[in-house]
Order: sequence, then structure tokens, then C-alpha cells
Amino acid sequence: MPDAPTKPLLRALTGESPKRPPWWLMRQAGRYLPEYRALRARASDFVSFCLTPALAAEATLQPVRRFGMDAAILFADILLVPQALGQTLGFGEEGPVLEPIRDSGAVNRLRRNQLSACIDPVCETVRLSRAGLPSEAALIGFAGAPWTVATYMVEGGGSKDYRHVKAWAYRDPGGFGALIELITDATITYLSAQIEAGVEVVQLFDSWAGVLPEAEFSRWVVEPTRRIVNELKQQFASVPIIGFPRGAGLLYERYTNETGVDAVSLDTTLPIGFAHDRLQPRVAVQGNLDPILLLVGGAALERAVKEIRIGLGGDPFIFNLGHGVLPQTPPEHVAALAKLLAEPLVVN
Ligand code: CP3
Repeated sequence: MPDAPTKPLLRALTGESPKRPPWWLMRQAGRYLPEYRALRARASDFVSFCLTPALAAEATLQPVRRFGMDAAILFADILLVPQALGQTLGFGEEGPVLEPIRDSGAVNRLRRNQLSACIDPVCETVRLSRAGLPSEAALIGFAGAPWTVATYMVEGGGSKDYRHVKAWAYRDPGGFGALIELITDATITYLSAQIEAGVEVVQLFDSWAGVLPEAEFSRWVVEPTRRIVNELKQQFASVPIIGFPRGAGLLYERYTNETGVDAVSLDTTLPIGFAHDRLQPRVAVQGNLDPILLLVGGAALERAVKEIRIGLGGDPFIFNLGHGVLPQTPPEHVAALAKLLAEPLVVN
């Protein structure tokens, strides 16, 4: 048996419920931090920024240095995997732009065995980040879940209605399934490499899990996630896996019961009572402050933080947002949040 973990984040993920919840924030590295903006200006484009280990490791460490979170999340992007598979990727003002993949011919043209273009620099970032982290802070690795990565690959970027990817999945589930399988295999290879390089937890971001009906949710969200979890658990039994099926609503329960993840990250709209009654008996939960409250700050922030701690803090729990930090967030509000979370909870 491995030794019991001592880092607060890992303890919550192995079933402990400390009085002060461990915390970190999705997108805790990013444009709301002036030091991030200065660092980002040193790279010509976002992808090369992510693939330059010295810069990416510094971005990973910046928020922990400033605010003392219990974890750093590796600085990278879920779309590095499509790029390593051979899809062209750029980031414009409107977000990511990819050359869309819309049929089996395009899937067959992807490169299956050249992931090292992304794995090698990202693993170097992992090693540099681990070396620079305080001893109580954990390092979280991540990847996009296959469904969410596929939405970007097929739509060619963000989307309002997921028309192309959903139409393909309904019309030709076998052909679309081959794309999902390829992404699933790549994700297992990528996350295994991150773990071998030193990440202590992994999170699977399924940002668009919430746009599928029940049957397709099982097929394209639950099934590939379960395969990733199974394969990682066979190799790395003690590395906790956090799943984030954003927007899944009632289907959070199926996701929790069927994928084998150790924890679920709750989006902002998921009711705390539901999470407490239906999810927390089986797994640790993470979340779910509205990122807009971090932007607003003050009494509204204080009230919401307290409600979340009252609702979820008695069982295995990690404080986080329901989605990423917004670029307009004042860093002082994050400092205020750090202070609130360091205080014992007073219920009156
Ligand atoms: O601090 C961290 O969270 C670590 C790094 C991280 C980034 N992206 C850096 C980033 C993580 C974990 C991600 C995950 C990611 N990337 C997701 C899943 C989570 C979610 O937000 O739903 C998704 C869907 C992406 C794809 C992506 N990357 C989009 C849609 C965009 C454009 C939107 C935006 O915020 O600009 C990105 C760019 C991106 N990834 C930025 C950062 C810090 C901003 C670009 C910049 O700084 O120049």
C-alpha cells in the first residue's frame, strides 16, 4: 500500500473531510493576473507559449505563489492533443480555430503515433512545475475528455448549437466513434505520460457534456471516460481522477456511478443539495462558485462561499469555481477568497 497522502488536496480526494477545505481554481493561471500577461507577451502565440516549458511552468506556479492555493494545474490546453494528431490549430480573438474534421477520410489522415510533439514539452513543464511547487501543494495534470475535444475538432472551434458534431454522431455513429476512439487512445497515452512525469491528480474536462441527450451522453461521455479511468487505474492505481461533465444536470449521477472517477467537479448550476445527497456519498466533490461572484466580490462572494462550505464541507470536498476564472476578475477578490477559506466556518 502507498503511504497515506499528506497534501490537503490529496487527502480530500482519498475521502477525508478537513475543517478547512483545500482549494484551487479552474483557469487560475490566466489573463486576470498582470504577471501572466507579462509572461504571455514573451511568446509569439498561445500554442508556442504552452509548448515552451520554462514559460508554461512559470504560468503554472504564478497563482500558487500569489494566493497559496492547495494545487497548481499544469499550464497547457486541451487542444494540444488535436494539434499533435495533425490538425492545424490557431488561437484568434474569438478563441480557437481548427481545420474541421467532418468525415472518416479526415479521421484516417490524422497521425496516430506522433504525440511526442505535445507530450515531450508538456512533460518537461510538469517536471519544472513540480520542482518549483511548495511541498504542501499538489500538481494537477489534465486533458479534455474525448467528447469535448471532438466538438472542437469537428466544429473547427467553439459552437452555439454543436450542429456538425451532433449530426455526424447521429448519422454515422460508427464513423464518429472511430474519432472518439482515436482521441480516447491519445488521451490515455498523454495522461499516462503526465503522471510518469510527476502530476499527482488528473482532471478530465468535459466542458460540453451538457449538450447531449441521455443515450448519447452514455455513449460519448460516460463510455470513453470509463475507458480512460480503467486504463489509468490499471497502471496508476493511486492517482486520483477528477471528472468535470459540465452541464450534465441529473446525468451527473450516472457519470459518477458509471465512470469510476474519484471526484466530480460541479458546475455552477448544479444544486448543492443534490450534489451532497446523490454524489458525495460515493465520491469527493469539487466546486462550484459562480465565476461571476468572484468578479463581483464583497458580501455576495462571502455569502456564497459560506453556503457552499455549509452544504458540502462536511464530507470530502475541494473548493473551486463552477467554471474558469474570468479575465476581468480583480486579483484582490481572489486574495479575499483565499482569506475566507483560511478561516474556520462559523455557522449562525
Ligand atoms: O489555469 C488553468 O486552468 C490551466 C490551463 C488551462 C487553459 N485551458 C489555459 C488557457 C486549462 C485547464 C484549459 C482547459 C481548456 N481549454 C478547456 C476546458 C475548460 C473550459 O474552459 O471549459 C477548454 C474548452 C479549452 C479550449 C480553449 N482554450 C478555449 C475555448 C480558449 C479560448 C477562450 C479564452 O479563454 O480565451 C482557450 C485559450 C486559453 N487556454 C487561454 C488560457 C489561459 C487564454 C488564452 C491566452 O491567455 O492567450
